[in-house]
Amino acid sequence: MTAIGQETIRTAQGARYDGLTIAFHWITAIVVIFQFASAQIWPLLERGTPARTGVIQSHLTLGVLLSAVILLRLVWRICFGRRHPVRLPLGQRLVANVVHGLLYALLITQVALGYLLGWSSGKPIAVFGVPSISPLYVIAGENRHMIGELHDTVAWIIIGLAVAHAAAALFHHHVLRDGVLRSMTGLAPKRVGHDGRP
Ligand code: HEM
Ligand code: HEM
Repeated sequence: MTAIGQETIRTAQGARYDGLTIAFHWITAIVVIFQFASAQIWPLLERGTPARTGVIQSHLTLGVLLSAVILLRLVWRICFGRRHPVRLPLGQRLVANVVHGLLYALLITQVALGYLLGWSSGKPIAVFGVPSISPLYVIAGENRHMIGELHDTVAWIIIGLAVAHAAAALFHHHVLRDGVLRSMTGLAPKRVGHDGRP
C-alpha cells in the first residue's frame, strides 16, 4: 500500500466524534437502559410501597433528563457536532444512517408518549418527587391504556434496535477493525507501524 493509502487509513481510524457528542451518546444509552430496566422492576414490587414509588419516580426524573439530553443532542448535532468521522463504504453508511435515524425518531416518539402518559392523570410530572412539569395536553382517560401500550411497544423496539446497533459496533471493532467503535468511545487508536501492523 502507498504511504498516502496508509495515511488515509490511519487518519480514518483515529477519527473521533467530538467530546460532547460522545458524552450525549453514552448518557442517552445508560438512561435508556435504566428506563427499560426500571419499567420491568416496578411491576414486581408491591403497590403503594416506598420502593415501587421510588422506582417510578426515578423513571420520571430520568425521563425528564433524557428529554433534555435528546433535545440538546439534536441541536448540537445539527448546528455544531462532528459527523461520521470514520469513512465507511456506501452500503454500510446507508444502513448506519437508517438505523441511527430510526433510533432518533423512536427516542423522540418515546419521550412524547412518556409525557402524555405522565400527564394523563392531569397532574404535573414530578422531578425528584416534586411536581414540576405541568400538563401541556391531557389525553382522555379511555386513551391512557392505549398510550401505555404504545409506550411499552416502542420501548421493546428501541431496546431491540439498540442491541442490534451495539452488536454492529462490536462487529466493526473486532472483525472489521475499522475504528467505528473507537470513534464513539473517545479512546486513542492503536498505534500502527509503517507496515500497517499494530
Ligand atoms: C427510551 C426511554 C423510555 C423507555 C425505554 C420507557 C419505558 C417504559 C415502559 C416499558 C413502561 C411500562 C409501560 C406499560 O407497561 O404500560 C413505562 C411507563 C411509564 N413511562 Fe416510560 N420509558 C421511557 C421514557 C419515558 C419518559 C421520557 C417519560 C416521561 C417523562 C416516561 C414516563 C412514563 C410513565 C408516566 C409511565 C407509567 C408509569 C406508571 O405506570 O405509573 N417514560 N416506560
Ligand atoms: C440504548 C442504547 C443506544 C442508543 C439509543 C444509541 C443511539 C445511537 C445513535 C442515535 C447514534 C448516531 C449518532 C449520530 O450520528 O448522531 C449512535 C452512534 C453510535 N453508537 Fe450508539 N446507541 C446506543 C448504544 C450503543 C452501544 C451499547 C454501543 C457500543 C457497543 C454503541 C456504539 C455506537 C457507535 C460506535 C456509534 C457511531 C456509529 C457511526 O458513526 O457509524 N451505541 N448510537
